[in-house]
Formats: sequence, C-alpha cells, structure tokens
Amino acid sequence: MELDLVFLSRIQFALTIMFHYLFPPLTIGMGVVLVYLGGMYLKTRDPAYQQAQKFWTRIFGLNFAIGVASGIVMEFQFGTNWATYSRFVGDVFGSALAAEGIFAFFLESGFLAVLIFGWNRVGPRMHFFSTCMVSLGSIFSSIWIVVANSWQQTPAGSHIVPMTREVLDEHGQRMFNENGELITAPWIIDGTPVMRAEVTDFWAMVFNPSTGYRLSHVLLGCFIMGSFFILSICAWYILKKKHVDFAKRSFRGALLLATVSSLLIAINGHQQAQNVYQYQPAKLAAFEGHYESDGSADLTLFGIPDAEAETVHARVAIPGGLSFLVHDDLSFSKPVLGLDQIRPEHRPPIWIPFISWRLMIGIGTFFILLTLFSYFLLWKGTLFEKRWIMWAYVASAGLAVVANQVGWVAAEVGRQPWIVHPPIVRGDDGNPILDEEGYLQYKMVEAALPDGTPYQRYAGLSTEDGVSKAVAAEHVAASIVMFLFIYMLLGAVWIFILNKKIQHGPDPPEEGFGESKTVNMFRLEGDREHQHRADAGLWDDTVQRDDTVQRDDTVQKTPGGDHD
Ligand code: HEM
Repeated sequence: MELDLVFLSRIQFALTIMFHYLFPPLTIGMGVVLVYLGGMYLKTRDPAYQQAQKFWTRIFGLNFAIGVASGIVMEFQFGTNWATYSRFVGDVFGSALAAEGIFAFFLESGFLAVLIFGWNRVGPRMHFFSTCMVSLGSIFSSIWIVVANSWQQTPAGSHIVPMTREVLDEHGQRMFNENGELITAPWIIDGTPVMRAEVTDFWAMVFNPSTGYRLSHVLLGCFIMGSFFILSICAWYILKKKHVDFAKRSFRGALLLATVSSLLIAINGHQQAQNVYQYQPAKLAAFEGHYESDGSADLTLFGIPDAEAETVHARVAIPGGLSFLVHDDLSFSKPVLGLDQIRPEHRPPIWIPFISWRLMIGIGTFFILLTLFSYFLLWKGTLFEKRWIMWAYVASAGLAVVANQVGWVAAEVGRQPWIVHPPIVRGDDGNPILDEEGYLQYKMVEAALPDGTPYQRYAGLSTEDGVSKAVAAEHVAASIVMFLFIYMLLGAVWIFILNKKIQHGPDPPEEGFGESKTVNMFRLEGDREHQHRADAGLWDDTVQRDDTVQRDDTVQKTPGGDHD
C-alpha cells in the first residue's frame, strides 16, 4: 500500500494538536476559578478559600507543565512537515506567534512561580496579583494563537506576493547593483513561482473578520472545560463523601462559571455560524449536509450524509430552519448557498464536519440543561443528594473535552481543501458572484513565470500544496509511531500524578497566609533564640527586615488578620 504524504502529515498534526489541546483549555478555565478563589480569600479572609486555591493551583501547575511539553512539538512540525505552508504564512504567523511568546508566555510562566511557590514568600495581595497575571497570560496566549488561526480562515490585512531570492555570482557571493542594492530574482520551484502572504495592515490582520467570534467562542469553550473539570472532581468527592465541605464550596463557584459559559457559547456560536456562512459558505454547507441552493433551506437534525449521491439519507429536518438561522429570516424561506454551488474539487469532506458539528452542539445543549436544572435543585436544597446528577458531573469533564476537540475538528476539516482559505469574489453589494457555470469563485493573484508568461493562482493555499516536499511519507509514518509512544507516556504520567493529587485531596485550611509553614521552617533551622522569640511573638531587627517573617510577626499577634 502506498503511503500518502499529505494524509499522514495531517494525521500527525491532528494527533499532536488534539493531545496538546487537552491542556490549554484546562489552564485557561481553571485560571479564572483561581482568580475567583484568590479574590474571595482577599475579601473574606476565610481560610477555606485559600485551601481551595492551593489545591487547584497544584493541579493547574501539573496541567500547565504537560501543556508546555506537548505544545513544543507543534512549532517544530511547522518546519519539518509543513515547510511550504510556513513560508506562505511566515510573515503573518511570525508576528502573532512572537507576540504570544513575548506578551503571554513570559507573563504566564513568570508569575506562575509566585503562584505556586509564593504562599510563604509574598503577601496575599501580591499573590492575588500573580494569580491574575497567570490567568491573563494564559488568555493572552490564546488570543495570538486564535488570531493566527482566524487569519487562515478569513485572511485580511495582507496580500499575496511572489517570493524573491538573492542572486549569487559564480563564487557564491551576493550580487548588488550600481546603487548598492541587493539583486534578487523570483523564487521558482518546479517551474512555478513561490508565493507568500505579506502583512499590509497589522491591525486588520489581527482583527480579521472571524477573530472576535472565534476568540470568544474558544475562551468560552475553555471556561467550560476548566469549570466542568473542577465540577467533575468535586462531584466525585461528594459521591465518595470525602472533603465534602471543600467540594461543595468549589462546586458552587465552578457551577456559576459553567452555567454562564454554556449559555453564552450557544448565543456566540449562533453568531459565529452566520459569520462562517458569510466567509466560508462551503464549510457551513458541509456542517449542515446542505446540497440544494434553491428554495428555503431545512435544518437537518439527524441523517446519514452521502457525498457521492449529494444528499442526506434518512433525514429528519426542521423546514426552513437553516434559512431562519443563517439569515435571521422569519419567513423561513430565504435560500442558503449549498454544496451544489461549490466546485467538487473545492468541497470539504462531509462526514467528519457533519458528525463533529452535531456532537459539539449536542453536548453544548446538554450542558445548558444540566447546569440550569442543577440551579433548580440547588434552590430546592437537594442538588448534592442526587447521586445520578453527581455522576453526570463526573462524566461531564470528558464531554467538555470531546466538545472542545470536535469543535476544532469541525472548524479545521470544514476548511478543507484549503489550509489558508482564499477570499470569495464579491460584487459591490457584498454578495458572492458566481462564475458562468454557477459555482462560487475564489480570488486569484498573479505572478510571472521565468519566461515572463503571466501565472495565476488562488489567493490562498491548498492543504496539498502546504506540505514539505522533501519529507517522505515513510518518515512521517515513523514519526507518528514515535509521537504516539511519547504522548501515551506523557498521558500516563499526567493521569498518574493527577490521580495521586485527587486521592490526596486538599490540605486542611490554614489560618492566615502561609503562616504556619514559615514558623516551621524557622524552627527547622534550629536557632533557639529565634524559636524562643517566635514562640513569644517577638522578632529581632534582622528578622523584621525580612518581608516573609515580618508578616508572621503580625500573624502571631493577630491570627487570621490582615498581614499583608
Ligand atoms: C451550543 C451551541 C454551539 C454552537 C452553536 C457552536 C458553534 C460553533 C461554530 C459555528 C463553530 C465553527 C467556527 C468556524 O469554523 O469558524 C464552532 C467551533 C468550535 N466550537 Fe462550538 N458551538 C457550540 C457549542 C460549543 C461547546 C459547548 C464547545 C466546547 C465546550 C465548543 C467549542 C468549539 C471549539 C473549540 C471550536 C473551534 C474553534 C472555533 O473555530 O471557534 N462549541 N462552534
């Protein structure tokens, strides 16, 4: 059997990114809960909030570490497997990913040290500030990644230009003209000019037409992931009657975030779907299994899509539902552009987008029902007694993972056959102009072949053209096996440590902010004089200058008071 380079490169990227994408949503979502717990501690000085924050911070740190380890691989894959794509998007992605490294990753990882190790070293306000910075850093990180991804779905603020290369003389030296300028020539590979996207307007690139919708959707998906992860562990504690007070407190906080995010993601998802229709109508048609552009468009609830027969078998549909959702059309009759108006070679595969789209929306709807019903039970005072609903929450963390994963699968497979989607040709009224055969048209750009003949290509990049031509399919297959092995190992380590932390549970709440440990540390040093003074609540001058101990001094006098 002949191995297919493009298919294998896609499988490899999908595997590595799907594993990686378990962790960023967890850290982003949990970061918000940590800010809530830290803020509540600062406000109330109730040690139970600090106890909860300490416990979830340990799990947050674990997720962060595995997230970083699994994410590095992706950056390398851009170079090894997707060199043509990297050349094409380099100018755009370079700035966005550099911004991610500088603004987000350093902010997040720098303050993470204070968050994890700072309990006995900084005051509560500084610690809270660090918690906010870590959460902000993780959100910033997602902004730049989503900007880069959104640009390849709906490019803006850039143009496509031929790439040039230096001209070398017979000694391999660069050549300059009489004005001292470098002499360059178009870069031709296999007889065709190499093209790349060049940023013309940085902010238009950043705020491209889908960034806002996608960013809010992704962040809400992360909040859902983080909150359901916490809800799942808390529900398990409640079922096992372990750490029950702690679990109920964390549960209430996470339930609020889960409910609000589940409601908002549905509203935002609806708007995003309208945006998808405007800029990537082939993708929405694949989500919906919509083949007929004429007449009103039905909303398919269930069915079996058949790309060859260009239909959906055993279809259950709401008449005119898609017309209503896409156009906000109360007459339920406006036509919706279908796959019959997309050239066959420009159609995405239908099965995967169709199924993953339904799974995501199904899980989203289940979350709305589950969380709203939980508030009803909370109001009745019976929520924590209902074992079946606690079991539903235990399972819900897995469902949140699935929803996030299939959301991306729908968005990325639905973008095929393009890796960078070309803009649509539109008339002055903004509507797409169909070609003479009645198909949707994508914008073209022009360059010249070496002999001067004009050369035309789409103002995007097909996935097939994005792979590294120098890499053999066998190499990709071998590296997939290697990645599978490494990621299984990494996954096993994650589950092992996570399980240990969950089994261990939270430490008992401490009065004050890290007080007891500092005094213990102090005692371990064996300085009898200091120990005596510590016991008596007195500190000498040298100790007074030490910020950590100064706080303890106050702690000794006013346990649990404000000793920032
Ligand atoms: C409840 C109704 C929901 C609707 C109407 C909805 C709508 C959408 C749409 C239209 C897209 C495709 C965007 C594109 O291709 O450009 C999308 C993608 C996505 N969805 Fe959903 N969604 C819903 C629920 C959820 C839930 C519950 C989650 C996760 C917990 C989720 C996570 C994602 C993710 C991660 C993506 C890929 C990123 C993106 O393109 O924005 N969605 N969703």
